[in-house]
Amino acid sequence: MKSQATASAPAKVILFGEHFVVYGNPAILASIDRRITVRAKTAEHDKVFIKSDIAEGEFSGATVKGSENAEAVLRPLYSAVRQVLLEKKHERGLEIEVRSDIPHGIGLGSSAASCVATVAATCLLFEQPDRQAVCERAVEAERLIHKNSSGADCYISTFGGLIYYSKSEGFSKIRSGAEMYIVIADTGIKHSTGDLVSSVKSLKERNEQEFSRWTEQARSICGRARSAIEAGDIRQMGALMNENQVLLSKIGVSHDVADRLIEIAIKNGALGAKVTGAGGGGAIIALALDKDSRSAIAGRIKEAGYNAFEARIDYDGLILG
Ligand code: MEV
Repeated sequence: MKSQATASAPAKVILFGEHFVVYGNPAILASIDRRITVRAKTAEHDKVFIKSDIAEGEFSGATVKGSENAEAVLRPLYSAVRQVLLEKKHERGLEIEVRSDIPHGIGLGSSAASCVATVAATCLLFEQPDRQAVCERAVEAERLIHKNSSGADCYISTFGGLIYYSKSEGFSKIRSGAEMYIVIADTGIKHSTGDLVSSVKSLKERNEQEFSRWTEQARSICGRARSAIEAGDIRQMGALMNENQVLLSKIGVSHDVADRLIEIAIKNGALGAKVTGAGGGGAIIALALDKDSRSAIAGRIKEAGYNAFEARIDYDGLILG
């Protein structure tokens, strides 16, 4: 057994199909060049100590000592670590350090990436882990954060690149026919993915017929988007992002500030823009024609007083060691 191990996992954007993916529809996701890095170290004590940029806690079975948010933020990580330790019959504790350059709570998959990297770093203390097994364990941990998770965020964070994902069929990689110039902008409004998924669920239960029509439209958008990405037709991709945003507004997960950022992006040359991830604030994604246009869009959003950054697709996914 090693005395320490490191793993890192990337942030994600959902290009098409968020929320509908929870009900078995496909979604198209990409991982981006922002990461969470986790270092796991063996300890002389029998507790699991976890420290991240936003919380810290010392876990021992059901008890936790530490920051106020330790239970909510770190329990899923602890539970994943504990499962690995039990399986490996390891009776001593661990120290886990989580460092992130992914903005938290705005739909960029920071909780999934932290689950993936924590599981991987812990497994790596014992052996070279299998990615699929890491991903499945991370999905279980993420379901402690929001129980209806589709699993999509953990898949993209583990396998990286661009994927077409559905709950029943898993994922297939998409080869993009053109470079994608992406801007991410932050509304500054944090959200709870679990609450948003629940609000969409109650909307669905109140409007079954309408929701099933929207579900079919979302499925059709994903199919056409996959073809557009493969063909390198970024104008069509942009148009489909706008079409997808109309559906996200209908299911109530857009937000005035998100709408404003989308408007700024489109007015300044974006081919398409939409909420990405759970919504309710959070982040928006805009697709630019080229590098210059990408910088111009990010610049105008910053001038309007919001955080924005230019993102690249990450093709590595989970990195061990
Ligand atoms: C969250 O990043 C994406 C949602 O579709 C929820 C999920 O897929 O579990 C809103």
